[in-house]
This record gives sequence, C-alpha cells and structure tokens, in this order.
Amino acid sequence: MIPAEQVEQTYEVDIERLLPGGVGLAHVDGLTLFVSLAAPGDRVRVRIDRTQNKAAFASIVEILKPSPVRVEPPCPYFGRCGGCDFQQLTYKAQLEAKVEIIRDCLHRIAKIPLPRNIRITPSQEWRYRSRANWQIDNPAKLLGYFERGTNRVCDVEYCGVLVPELEKTLEQVRHELKAGTAVTHPRDVDVVAGDDGISVAPAFGGFTPEVIRKRIGRETYSFTADMFFQVNHELLEPLINEALGSVRGQFAIDLYAGVGLFTLPMARRFARVSSVEAHPRATEFAKQNLALAGLRNVEVVTLGVAPWLKQSRPFEPLDFLLLDPPRVGCENAAIAGILALRPRRIAYVSCDPATLARDLRKFIDDDYILDSVAAFDMFPQTHHVETVARLTAMRHL
Ligand SMILES: C[S@@+](CC[C@H](N)C(=O)[O-])C[C@H]1O[C@@H](n2cnc3c(N)ncnc32)[C@H](O)[C@@H]1O
Repeated sequence: MIPAEQVEQTYEVDIERLLPGGVGLAHVDGLTLFVSLAAPGDRVRVRIDRTQNKAAFASIVEILKPSPVRVEPPCPYFGRCGGCDFQQLTYKAQLEAKVEIIRDCLHRIAKIPLPRNIRITPSQEWRYRSRANWQIDNPAKLLGYFERGTNRVCDVEYCGVLVPELEKTLEQVRHELKAGTAVTHPRDVDVVAGDDGISVAPAFGGFTPEVIRKRIGRETYSFTADMFFQVNHELLEPLINEALGSVRGQFAIDLYAGVGLFTLPMARRFARVSSVEAHPRATEFAKQNLALAGLRNVEVVTLGVAPWLKQSRPFEPLDFLLLDPPRVGCENAAIAGILALRPRRIAYVSCDPATLARDLRKFIDDDYILDSVAAFDMFPQTHHVETVARLTAMRHL
C-alpha cells in the first residue's frame, strides 16, 4: 500500500507495452502500474488514482516523450468520454496491440505456447459502428456515453465511430431530448442502423423499435434494436467465413445464436442444425430469418445454453459446434455439456480474449487441439477485439 500522503505524488515512467484491458504497463518503486490512455514507448508523468497491493491504476498528467506510435486523438471528447481508449495510437499500433493482447491472454491464462501468427482483419477506422447504446440524463438534457470510470453522461454532439446514419440519429434524438416532447424518458437507448432504416429501443420521441433488415453476404437478417446484433457490419462476412471455414456435414449446433447470424450460413452447409438462444424475441427473428431464406432444416430453441445442453443428448455424431457467448464467456455447465457432446470441430467466437483463453484451456485439457486463432478489428479506436478460435477433437484426427 502506498501511504495516503504519497497518493497525490507523480512519477515519471516508461510505458513498456499495452495489456488486456488496453492499459499501459509501467513499473516504479516496486509497483506495477496500469496507465490508461497510454502508448507503448511513451515516457510520461503519471498520477496514481488507486492502488491494490502491489498494483496501481494511474493516469497520465504529462507526456514527457511521446511514443513514435502516438498520434493526436481527433475526437474532442477523448479522455473524458468512456467510449474510445485507443485513439492515441496509430491504426497500425492499435492492430499490433490487439494481437499482443490475444497472445498475452492465450499464453498467461490458457498456458498456450504463443501462437506464431495471429492474423488480424482490419476495419474501416472510423464510421464503422452501426449499433450503439446512448445514455440520457433527462433533467440536464445530456446525451452520449458515460464519462470514463463514472456514470455521469458525457454529452457528445459528435461521435466519429458511428456510421453516418447513426450520427444523424444522434442529432435527432438530441433534438427530441431538448424539445422535451418525448412521452417516455428512458435513461438509455439502443440504436441500430440497417439497410432500410433505424431502430431505437425503447421508443423515444419519433423513434420506435421498428424492424430493420441487414444483408450480410447472401443472407438477410431482420431484427430490432432491443436484441443483440454485431456492431461492425462490414466485417461480418469475413468473420462468418473464418468461423465456418470449409466445414460441412450432417449435424451442427449454433450456441448463443442471437437472430441467427451464423445459423443461416450453417443451415446451408449441414443437413440439420440446432440453434440455441435465451432471448425469446431474438429467436422469433431467427425463425423468421430462416423461413424467409427457405431454410427448414433448423431447430430453433429458446433456452439458456447450459440447461439446453443438460437436457439434450442427440444420438447423431456432432460434426460442428459454434459458440459465440457474451463477454463473460461460457459457463462451466455449458462447457461440460459441450464436452459431453464431443463435437468433431468447434469454432469459438469471442469478444473477450481473457474469457476466451480461460475457456480454451478447458477444451484443450479435454483433448482438443487448437487449430487456428484469427482476430477481427470489430471495434477500432478501442482496445476491444473479436477473436475466432477453431479446435478439433483429437480422437477424430
Ligand atoms: C455475443 S452475442 C452473439 C449472438 C449471435 N451469435 C450473433 O453473432 O449475432 C451473445 C448472445 O447470447 C445470448 N445469451 C446470453 N447468455 C445466454 C445463455 N446463457 N444462453 C443462451 N443465450 C444466451 C444473448 O442474448 C446474445 O444474443
């Protein structure tokens, strides 16, 4: 513990590299520092905000010598808005940091020898985000994202990562908020842009959770703002191609399936598919999306993954299983259920390298081989990254 009187003290440190969570690593006086909004190679003066045993969380008060990969963040809200924490890096450095973050998690958490080359598919650097969650402070008429580390609303009039349609929607929602004509006063709204319109949930002012459509490759998906759909639509076709590779066969399962992003292409490659998702409205849309595509070989199940796996014991051999859980990863009971089914191949799609690594270790301990790891930069200007890991059951090699 640092004595209280020293907490306000500043330290000059070198940022060694970026860690999972996007923070910079530095060392001083026997302490390991996690420095926010840093660039690897920076020499900075930092202030310690919080300590925890030998670790401390710190903020930059002065850049003494900028890293060669540091750039001027273009957003006027950078540092205050909690949204983007990688704008201080060149895009190339962002991609490199994300690959390092994945390697670090696989090595440290999963004890996997460092994979030699993890490919990362880049994205359009700005204006890629087709889905957002905006915070509203109705009494103060503020609209935007939470300020870094707080639940105060950072009022943003501009957001450079939004697709142009959502940037326009931000302006219109702000107008409704200022006019005070809205009947409901939600504390936050989910917004999503499709090919044919904008969906906002809950309804706010003139906006409603209307059904929108999005075409990805040869498939069309309908959905509304109150359910999950991926943020970066341009990368979805390569993401699906990476997750499915050349798999084909008789029977496959899609877990945490949402409105069927992977279920539809899987239904074209397998004789029979089970698609499992807990959100009842999402499975309604999955059924509708399959029906409109003329795909009748899918059983859509509205249930939690773990209870479904517990009750289902298919007799057929399982050729392929895809799982795409939320950030927390896959529950123990779900992993046990997957292992009991012994799928020949597994594709794990993840938005958190740490929980992915934790879960991969369990598959590898049960005789799965990690075939490949590929990254997709679904969230430029932030430390977040999407990863696809593919595994094969050893017994089937
Ligand atoms: C990361 S999203 C992936 C959705 C879909 N695969 C896609 O790419 O559009 C995770 C999904 O899992 C669902 N979910 C979360 N926990 C679940 C659980 N325990 N059982 C089943 N579905 C769950 C969420 O509703 C969400 O639709």
